[in-house]
Amino acid sequence: MDPSQVTNKIPPLKDLTIDNITENVIRINSLCEDARMKYVLERLVSHLHDFARETRLSTAEWMAGIRFLTEVGKICSDVRQEFILLSDILGLSLLVDSIDHPKPPGSTEGTVLGPFHTHEAPELNHGEVMSHDPNGEPMLVLCTLKDTNGNPIPDVKIDVWETDSSGHYDVQHADRKGPDGRCILRSDQNGNFWFKAIKPVPYPIPHDGPVGKLLKKLHRHPYRPSHIHFMFEKEGYDHLITALYLRNDPYESSDAVFGVKNTLVVDLGKVDADLAAKYDIAEGAWLLTYDFVLVSEAETSALRDRNSQVALDKLGRKVKIVNGLPVPDLD
Ligand SMILES: [Fe+2]
Repeated sequence: MDPSQVTNKIPPLKDLTIDNITENVIRINSLCEDARMKYVLERLVSHLHDFARETRLSTAEWMAGIRFLTEVGKICSDVRQEFILLSDILGLSLLVDSIDHPKPPGSTEGTVLGPFHTHEAPELNHGEVMSHDPNGEPMLVLCTLKDTNGNPIPDVKIDVWETDSSGHYDVQHADRKGPDGRCILRSDQNGNFWFKAIKPVPYPIPHDGPVGKLLKKLHRHPYRPSHIHFMFEKEGYDHLITALYLRNDPYESSDAVFGVKNTLVVDLGKVDADLAAKYDIAEGAWLLTYDFVLVSEAETSALRDRNSQVALDKLGRKVKIVNGLPVPDLD
């Protein structure tokens, strides 16, 4: 923007103090014409400044924070996302998912995406083997997929991913030959899908980097309870990112990234003779069954708008919802 235009709208930014810097930074940012971006920046600056004022943040601590974030950035690569990990262990990932993807009663709850989803999973037919780890304990997975009225949903794209029996995702092995322990399926005409996986095991999130060091300082363990990830996509339905967790896992109630929800905790069964013959798997293998319920986009956006309005009313903020997101209501 032309500096002369700026000075027409904005008072000179001089002699700023602890008490008036926030309103002035917000004022210069308010030249932005995008109402949503302006609102997000306004709240970000306001909370960030309050954080510094409330903690009486020292220059040394500010610098330590800058150094920490620099380390987080440096260790990121195509197959390692330390920023998502940081967001996960701070509880931000679960919080954002809960806000953006509210779920009506009876639908499948969401949980954290985590840093190990990739876009290179092979597309499998129903019943095929997803994990080729010879040390894994075979597990048959039989699932249904319905809408909130109980109707089956065909042709949903389903992404599934899990670790191998050592608790590592394929991308964590430097010598990997290609994707393993992950696949893409499509629900059939009756909304069903099935595949062969291995019994999930608990694993530590990568803790050889800055996020691991932070956890150690906080006296927190880096473990996630045994789980298998699922992601569902179909036009007209809210994108569902979720996971199923095994009951009685030692980390069931202390997940390092806060992802466990009661409705997502499952008891594994055993494959009987009939199922073994039908699905071509050994009798006695583990059996995971689950009925997923997807929410339509229309239901989700109505619920999200309503939740936003209620939450911001409580905070005393006058807002209107534009494109599903709140902005100040200045009319
Ligand atoms: Fe995971």
